[in-house]
Amino acid sequence: MLIPSVGSDLPILLDKEKIATRITEMATAISRDYQGRTPHLVGVLKGAWVFMADLIREISIHCTVDFLSIQSYGSGTVSSGEVKITKDLDVSIERRDVLVVEDILDTGRTYSYLQEVLGAHDPASLKLAALLDKHTRRILPVEADYVGFEIPDVFVVGYGLDFDQKYRNLADVRYIPGPQTLPLFGPRA
Ligand code: IMP
Ligand code: MG
Repeated sequence: MLIPSVGSDLPILLDKEKIATRITEMATAISRDYQGRTPHLVGVLKGAWVFMADLIREISIHCTVDFLSIQSYGSGTVSSGEVKITKDLDVSIERRDVLVVEDILDTGRTYSYLQEVLGAHDPASLKLAALLDKHTRRILPVEADYVGFEIPDVFVVGYGLDFDQKYRNLADVRYIPGPQTLPLFGPRA
C-alpha cells in the first residue's frame, strides 16, 4: 500500500537538488576561506543538524564539530527575544576559528546572543553560515558570512526545520502557505 509522505501537500520553496547544489558552493567557499586552518563548526540544535551533516561532507579541509542547544522564550505568538543555552559546548573554543552553523537567520536575536556568549570565550574568529536568511524580518543588525538562500517571510519547514517539532524529516524546504497561519506558530526556537 502506498502511504503518502507527510508534508507532501505543502508547497516546495527549495527542492533537495537545489539545496545540495548550493551547499556544495558554500562548502567550497568555506574550504577556500579557511585553508591552512581547522575551522570549528558549531551547529545550533536542533534545526541546523541536517544542514550541518550535508555541509561538512562537502568541506575539503580539516574541521572539527560541536553542537549547542538554544531555547528562546516568548508568550503567545511573540518571541520575547530572551534566549538561553540549554546544551553547552563540549570543548573550549579559545583561539579556535569558530563557524556557527544555523538553519535560518530570522530576527537575528539568536545569533546576536551567540556572538556575545561565544565571543566572550576568545575565539580566534567567529563567523556564521546560515542555510536560509529571512532578511526582511531582521530586528538586530547581524548578517551571516555564508548564506545559502535569501527567502521571503514565509514559515518554512523541512530539511531540519520544524513546526511544533514535526516536519524536520522532509527532504525539501517547504512552506506553510497563508499569512493567516503565522500566528499559530508561536515562539520560534
Ligand atoms: P532568530 O533568533 O529570530 O534569528 O531566529 C532563528 C531561529 O528561529 C532559527 O534558528 C529557527 O529555529 C527559528 N525559525 C525562524 N524562522 C523559522 C521558520 O520559518 N521555520 C522554522 N523555524 C524558524
Ligand atoms: Mg534554530
